[in-house]
Amino acid sequence: MADVKQAFVCGWPVNHSRSPMIHRYWLKKYGLSGDYVKYPCEPENFATFVENMAETDFVGGNVTVPHKEAALKLADQPEAEALRLGAANTLWIRDGKIRATNTDGYGFLANLDERAPGWDSPEHRQRGALVLGAGGAARAVIDALQQRNFAKIQIANRTVEKAEKLAQQFGPPCSAVGIESIDCLTCDAAVIVNTTSLGMNDGRSPLNLAGFSSDTIVNDIVYTPLITPLLEQARVQKMQAVDGLGMLLHQAVLGFEKWFGTRPEVDAELRQLLLDDLGESQ
Ligand code: ATR
Repeated sequence: MADVKQAFVCGWPVNHSRSPMIHRYWLKKYGLSGDYVKYPCEPENFATFVENMAETDFVGGNVTVPHKEAALKLADQPEAEALRLGAANTLWIRDGKIRATNTDGYGFLANLDERAPGWDSPEHRQRGALVLGAGGAARAVIDALQQRNFAKIQIANRTVEKAEKLAQQFGPPCSAVGIESIDCLTCDAAVIVNTTSLGMNDGRSPLNLAGFSSDTIVNDIVYTPLITPLLEQARVQKMQAVDGLGMLLHQAVLGFEKWFGTRPEVDAELRQLLLDDLGESQ
């Protein structure tokens, strides 16, 4: 075991990752010695990297695209969240064994809990949620909504077959629909979540919110830009708009606790640090 604990974010590529900024902020705030570094790793080298982790200075780390599915398969003891999603984003060593979890769902829920308290009230759970997109991020969101007992979860995707596959995998209360056939007449969801890449620096919105009830809560997990075209529309229509930066911040909490032994707080200073880095004013 190393004197100075080190954690990593491993991906290919990994240059864009803002995770080092988050974890280094917490290491400093809590006066802990340790470091968190970017570890670029090509897919063919990933298994060797993980299998040898116990012999290195690393106590664990985050895993990002394209390694999340491989990370789950390499884990000796995957936790239930990672098994349900078929992908892991957090690894750590305990008693010589590689353990794995997936913290995306936790980050999604904690962000909404913080920024839109009451978003999962019994009435909202009854009205249900609309999830836009059917990729890896959608899986984490759908699973989290199921954990919070939403009675209706509509999955809307451009390629409807992918939404149908997810609805089948997750089972009731999920249903699938083509994204172009969603409007205020067919959908009364209390919560709308965008997990598609639309809005990420392309100026496009995945959905026209015209006519949706003004008490709808709209969340975009995209955070570049912070206020996406979908969230802009929500604001214009006086709906509650929740940006995706908090999901990034909160999903980091559980990993930090595993590696460095302290459960960190997502505070205003950390959010501001990221906003400054993103070039956003708030
Ligand atoms: P992630 O793992 O981050 O969720 P992904 O698996 O690539 O990423 O999924 C991207 C999502 O954005 C998909 O739902 C995709 O729709 P398709 O399944 O039809 O490809 C959606 N998406 C990407 N570009 C889109 C576009 N131009 N219009 C509508 N949906 C789009």
